[in-house]
Amino acid sequence: MFPERIYLTGFMGSGKSTLGPPLAERLGYGFLDLDAAIEAEAGRPVQALFAEEGEAAFRALERACLQQTARRSGVVVALGGGALTFEENLHFARTHGAVVYLYVPPAELARRLARSRTPRPLLFGEDGRPLAGPALEARIADLLAHREAFYRRAHHTVDLTGKDVDEAVAAVLGALRHHA
Ligand code: S3P
Repeated sequence: MFPERIYLTGFMGSGKSTLGPPLAERLGYGFLDLDAAIEAEAGRPVQALFAEEGEAAFRALERACLQQTARRSGVVVALGGGALTFEENLHFARTHGAVVYLYVPPAELARRLARSRTPRPLLFGEDGRPLAGPALEARIADLLAHREAFYRRAHHTVDLTGKDVDEAVAAVLGALRHHA
């Protein structure tokens, strides 16, 4: 038996939204992307919400949308990278399902995020443009210094180093099989 709700956490670019759908399919579960739920609720993209209302407004909606996942069962939830870096949210996810941390080494995150076209407000510079090169690496390191301890409190940590999508999904399923 697998847990009724599976919460995927990890840094931006770790593959939460990519692995979520194939993982859900393997389990016969539904899939929910929390950022998409926030955007539907806010009626605008995450980037616009940050720009127009500020990060605190985004975090309030994020918390509310996370709590609404309690109504669903048989679901894989791809969280935003900051969602479980708040005690209340981490506690909520841990008590409503299984939390899986997708670990990707920082250098690989930097490579992926440099290529990504998804606008990520926390990775913008003061000029409002996406950070690149050493500035991007430094921002990732700064955020991870605070976040890693939260991520490590997931029920399961899956190291995705060198894994393609199929291998990563298999590794997450393997970890979940041992979920008490
Ligand atoms: C954030 C991650 C983003 C999104 C928002 C904030 C974060 O999601 O929720 O930009 O604080 O790490 P992804 O992890 O899917 O990029």
